Amino acid sequence: MNILVTGGAGFIGSNFVFLELKEHPEDRIICVDKLTYAGNLKTLKDVMDNPQFVFYKTDICDREAIDEIFAKERPDIVVNFAAESHVDRSIENPEVFLETNIIGTSVLMDASRKYGVKRYHQVSTDEVYGDLPLDRPDLFFTENTPLHTSSPYSSSKAGADLLVNAYHRTFGLPTTISRCSNNYGPYQFPEKLIPLMIANALADKNLPVYGEGINVRDWLYVEDHCKAIDLIIRKGTVGEVYNIGGHNEMRNIDIVKIILEELGKPESLIVHVTDRKGHDQRYAIDPAKIHAELGWLPETMFKDGIKKTIRWYLDNKEWWEDIISGDYQNYYAEMYGKKEVID
Ligand code: NAD
Ligand code: TYD
Repeated sequence: MNILVTGGAGFIGSNFVFLELKEHPEDRIICVDKLTYAGNLKTLKDVMDNPQFVFYKTDICDREAIDEIFAKERPDIVVNFAAESHVDRSIENPEVFLETNIIGTSVLMDASRKYGVKRYHQVSTDEVYGDLPLDRPDLFFTENTPLHTSSPYSSSKAGADLLVNAYHRTFGLPTTISRCSNNYGPYQFPEKLIPLMIANALADKNLPVYGEGINVRDWLYVEDHCKAIDLIIRKGTVGEVYNIGGHNEMRNIDIVKIILEELGKPESLIVHVTDRKGHDQRYAIDPAKIHAELGWLPETMFKDGIKKTIRWYLDNKEWWEDIISGDYQNYYAEMYGKKEVID
């Protein structure tokens, strides 16, 4: 099978590419990524020469270029990870979120219709459900929870989800959607909570906790998310939405303290800073449907996953130090100075 993966040079997309090449060596992976600030080609260096892998530096909003890739590669399955993904950036500049997350999704679905893909999968987020109050631990997001967004990021993702459902109902496009909770693990860009705190702690810099740090997120190890998507694209029911989460709710401040303890750094590095505007209080996923229908369960406990993640950032300092210095953005030019570009 030919699987077209967008956003494969980002955090979750790259972990998905590695999983697919390992678990399904018979499948071919066509990776499409614009290499925005969040895309890092170095992440994919170990698979660039794999004959089952091909990379296109392309914007998913570029209709003509996307059409050409579909015409040439004839994907059976499309998995759309490509997105602007950082809430804080969406508060500073919403527009690019609307372009990539909504227009980009429609461009990919138009091409999917035209070339008759067997499955279009949209990687979405629990943030489309808005937030839950801190004093109601009995409440969880199910697939039937109404969409109710807070940030330009979550609104753009919800807009895309609605469009996916519309393409399924109106045009019969064989779609699925997954809505996952917060991920952590290797290759996460150091602007998100966990890698930012690890990088700052290692440099003995302050750890900026928004507000009191009592907001709750439901953390899932990235590989568990990728395994769930792998199941959905192969065994999930067309037209359905699947929530993905591991019942692992934690307050931000507690995560930050665990990281400091693991690294042997003092809690005096913590600084409480101005809260995020419209900051969602609590996310909590009910994953009963994907468990019952597809047998998915998370495999990595948080206490093990956070240790593995910290170990990875310690062993791969060059990867994130290059990001902090900005050097990683030269890598594409260096790489493609030597290589033939398929664009
Ligand atoms: P990321 O920011 O690490 O990576 C995004 C990737 O998309 C980058 O490689 C970037 O270059 C690429 N990209 C951005 N705009 C593009 C465009 N116009 N054309 C082509 N490529 C483009 O994001 P992530 O954390 O890996 O998230 C991947 C997906 O999973 C997103 O759709 C996000 O909404 C969703 N998601 C993320 C989380 C999380 O905790 N990170 C949780 C649930 C869902
Ligand atoms: P983030 O990793 O940006 O993910 P999301 O906003 O999609 O959940 O943030 C996770 C939580 O951590 C969120 O409640 C905001 C908080 N946070 C901080 O307290 N300090 C920070 O520097 C960052 C980036 C996030």
